[in-house]
Amino acid sequence: MIGCSGQIGSELTIELRNIYGNENVFATDLKEAPAEIRDNGPFQILDVLDEKRLQHYAIRNKITQVYNLAAVLSGNAERMPMQAWNINMSALINTLELARELGLNKIFWPSSIAVFGPTTPRFGTPQLSVMEPNTMYGISKLAGERWCEYYHQRYNIDIRSLRYPGLISYKTEPGGGTTDYAVEIYYEAIKNGSYESFLKEETTLPMMFMPDAIKATIDLMEADADKIKVRSSYNVGGMSFNPQEIADAIRKHIPGFEITFKHDFRQAIADSWPASIDDSVARADWNLSYKYNLESMTQVMLDEIRKKAG
Ligand code: NAD
Ligand code: SER
Repeated sequence: MIGCSGQIGSELTIELRNIYGNENVFATDLKEAPAEIRDNGPFQILDVLDEKRLQHYAIRNKITQVYNLAAVLSGNAERMPMQAWNINMSALINTLELARELGLNKIFWPSSIAVFGPTTPRFGTPQLSVMEPNTMYGISKLAGERWCEYYHQRYNIDIRSLRYPGLISYKTEPGGGTTDYAVEIYYEAIKNGSYESFLKEETTLPMMFMPDAIKATIDLMEADADKIKVRSSYNVGGMSFNPQEIADAIRKHIPGFEITFKHDFRQAIADSWPASIDDSVARADWNLSYKYNLESMTQVMLDEIRKKAG
């Protein structure tokens, strides 16, 4: 696991350890891991950009599969586009080369709804569509998808990928994306009873609750190879809502909750992305399914954040 300390990695690592055994999931990240990961199985500080050390640890630990989650997300990527491009591409290419050189069994690398752009149909965006992203994050993810498909076709590497929508979770803070508002809003609702949204009220985006994202990832990776027809990345839709609708869902539990709106540079990023996603190809190929909607996710988010707050 590369990127075990992030929003997804901190939960996916635990789930993989539950399935395969703590000792069999070697967790790495540039930064310290959460105690639950660091104390219950192998963990190593590792920069995925350092290909020699990456190879060293892969050989020493007899690695057979890699989940590579290291990336600069959309908001941060707009703040430092050249660095984001270099990090996002090198992190992926080092992993692909590792797979080629060591003959690894399977690779997971996440893409994003950010591969789509302002010229893509916004509603029910299909698996195959116009793709002209105008954010550095989206450009790097689209290029990454092309690299994945190329390595599959050219070197027969079993690489699998999902275009995650915005992911919502309560265990680890999100890492600088445009959809982070949909996590922050729950914390602020409990702490202050109010939230100032950096996206406009009508900005509808596709989103997914973390347990559904973890299940989709594992279902994809466990599926028989002949079921995986898409080797760039699969559309994953989840649910779609805007800041006003999530505020309304919170108000059912916290009646006095107030939302105000002051958009920033992330509005332009959100405006370039789809509002809803057609994920029928993933449903047909390997039975993608979800459990949560906005109401059931809101209940869990508020309960869990209250518990954390004590
Ligand atoms: P995150 O920022 O929370 O976590 C990324 C982790 O990677 C961090 O712990 C970071 O320390 C680590 N990392 C960064 N550079 C590294 C390097 N050079 N070497 C080793 N580790 C490094 O991000 P996340 O939300 O967990 O996202 C994981 C992946 O999923 C990314 O590729 C992201 O683009 C993709 N994704 C996330 C979302 C979302 O909503 N969270 C949506 C779509 C796609
Ligand atoms: N949630 C991610 C972001 O906002 C989408 O890939 O960057």
